[in-house]
Amino acid sequence: MKLAMEHLSKQFKNKIAVKQIDTILTEGVYGFLGANGAGKTTLLQMICGIIEPTSGEVKIDGENNIQMGERFRDILGYLPQEFGYTPGFTAQDFMLYIASIKGLQPQYAKQKTRQLLRLVNLENEANRKIKTFSGGMKRRLGIAQALLNDPKILILDEPTAGLDPKERAYFRNIISEMSKDKIIIISTHIVSDIEYISDQVLVMKKGCFILQGTPEELLDKVNGEVWSCKIPNKEWTKFETQYCIANSHTLANHVEARIISTEAPIDDAINVEPTLEDLYLKYFSDEMEAGENS
Ligand SMILES: Nc1ncnc2c1ncn2[C@@H]1O[C@H](COP(=O)(O)OP(=O)(O)OP(=O)(O)O)[C@@H](O)[C@H]1O
Ligand SMILES: [Mg+2]
Repeated sequence: MKLAMEHLSKQFKNKIAVKQIDTILTEGVYGFLGANGAGKTTLLQMICGIIEPTSGEVKIDGENNIQMGERFRDILGYLPQEFGYTPGFTAQDFMLYIASIKGLQPQYAKQKTRQLLRLVNLENEANRKIKTFSGGMKRRLGIAQALLNDPKILILDEPTAGLDPKERAYFRNIISEMSKDKIIIISTHIVSDIEYISDQVLVMKKGCFILQGTPEELLDKVNGEVWSCKIPNKEWTKFETQYCIANSHTLANHVEARIISTEAPIDDAINVEPTLEDLYLKYFSDEMEAGENS
């Protein structure tokens, strides 16, 4: 299957949220990585056919997604960033309700509900009301409902928001297992959630993809630019203002710092293995200083 974004743009009044995106996705896991306001949700909503592009279009095997109508919704699973649950429903009621909206046969819906609640580790909570769920449990229920129609295209907008480290690890395993025959898109600003499970990472900034490649290809872009340094305390302020600092730990006489820089920041700096988080910091440090992204 081919999911094509062709010259895709979205403008809200005078704000261009997505700018002329052109890319083609086939089966696999795609991590859309971007800071707050980069345009991830807007782009995903256009792919799902929830909002119309200002210009350009989304095509599934050559056919416009919105014109496909029900045939498109049949193959789409979507977890919105802001997901409205019905608090008085139990997890099972909610799944059956979504299944009925998706037009599944009742018998099949029941069986699928049981299977998916087991998959997201909520089988023992099936009869609990959603209003008693933690944020992480609600998120897992959201992932389960997106899978009800066994979608070929699965779109998860910040699926790991609110999950604890154990739940995050579990989520990564679920996604990896089902990625064979699907196009899976995961948006996040948490690098570690997609670093190990994405076939491709697309870095989004100010409405554009500024980088696209396998995690290894992207890591190559910061290779040789990540340094472990020991900076004397009295010089730290100068370094802090001058360099992109990934992290720092202040000790009695010096600061141990991980610094991203094309040149060694200090004579005895040691070159270290980069992570995608270093890459993210390299491309987004300007926005962090400004403290705002739009
Ligand atoms: N309905 C809207 N009306 C006006 N502006 C909007 C609307 N929706 C989004 N925007 C603007 O478009 C830009 C992109 O927003 P979007 O929600 O797509 O970003 P995002 O990458 O999903 O951010 P986050 O990580 O915070 O979820 C932002 O500047 C946002 O303020
Ligand atoms: Mg968003």
